[in-house]
Amino acid sequence: MRTLRINEKLERMVIDKLLHAGCVFAEEEAELLIAEAKTSDELLKMTESRALGAPIEYVLGYTCFCGLRINVERNVFVPRRRTEFLAEKAKAIVQDGDRVVDLCCGSGAIGAAIASGADIHLHAVDIDEAAVRCAKRNLSGLGAHVYQGDLYSVLPRSLKGSVKMIAANIPYVPTGFIDLLPQEARLHEPKSALDGGEDGFMILRKVAAEAPEWLAPGGDLMIETSGRQASKAAEIFEESGLTARIAKDKDLDATVIIGRLKRLQKSQI
Ligand SMILES: C[S@@+](CC[C@H](N)C(=O)[O-])C[C@H]1O[C@@H](n2cnc3c(N)ncnc32)[C@H](O)[C@@H]1O
Repeated sequence: MRTLRINEKLERMVIDKLLHAGCVFAEEEAELLIAEAKTSDELLKMTESRALGAPIEYVLGYTCFCGLRINVERNVFVPRRRTEFLAEKAKAIVQDGDRVVDLCCGSGAIGAAIASGADIHLHAVDIDEAAVRCAKRNLSGLGAHVYQGDLYSVLPRSLKGSVKMIAANIPYVPTGFIDLLPQEARLHEPKSALDGGEDGFMILRKVAAEAPEWLAPGGDLMIETSGRQASKAAEIFEESGLTARIAKDKDLDATVIIGRLKRLQKSQI
């Protein structure tokens, strides 16, 4: 709901400033800024910041993900539209009472989306302090546990063998490709949120290798990757003992690898 009343002249000024700065969706962005600003001064500061190149999500302080309003702060990875594909796939599998881990959670958008569809026990981990602070805000009220640390190292040992879903949008950009990313990611998001190491699989290898220890039989590890990296990523899953499946959404340009931990045969129990 708009709280700030502004005149047409100010609105035009905001739109013109954004257009001048090269914002393709200047009118839509102006509307969002006007809806968010509490005073004309604040509106002008926000417009200036956007015109100087700050991502609109940082200027607004939020983004929309799977129909949810997710707080984002500067230096925290901005959840992408394409990642909604992973979140929706995870939602389709998870049921009430399941234990779910949002690994490399950033703002906690994926965990929040999954929790919006089922009454789950959610654990979220990120190595970055700002991301953890942000995830705590977004996941408050969901009974989630949010930890700061390196991948699985900070999860309670009691979760081992019982997790139904590990949803992990890990950094997967090969180091040498980071300079080719759009300016908003390259200049404004932390490199540690993007950098997947020399071949882009450095973190994936660790995540996949340890996943079988944490998953319940029949549980899934789900990661996002690029179309180009998909078959190698699936191979890494298989080497870790997971049965891998590649899923794609053309409209969102999204690729997800789903790795299922095999259920034990009766003879193995
Ligand atoms: C691509 S971002 C994804 C964030 C969020 N899941 C999303 O989709 O919006 C990757 C995240 O992984 C975190 N990260 C990188 N290395 C990590 C590690 N070793 N352990 C835990 N988190 C890590 C980064 O801080 C960043 O927030």
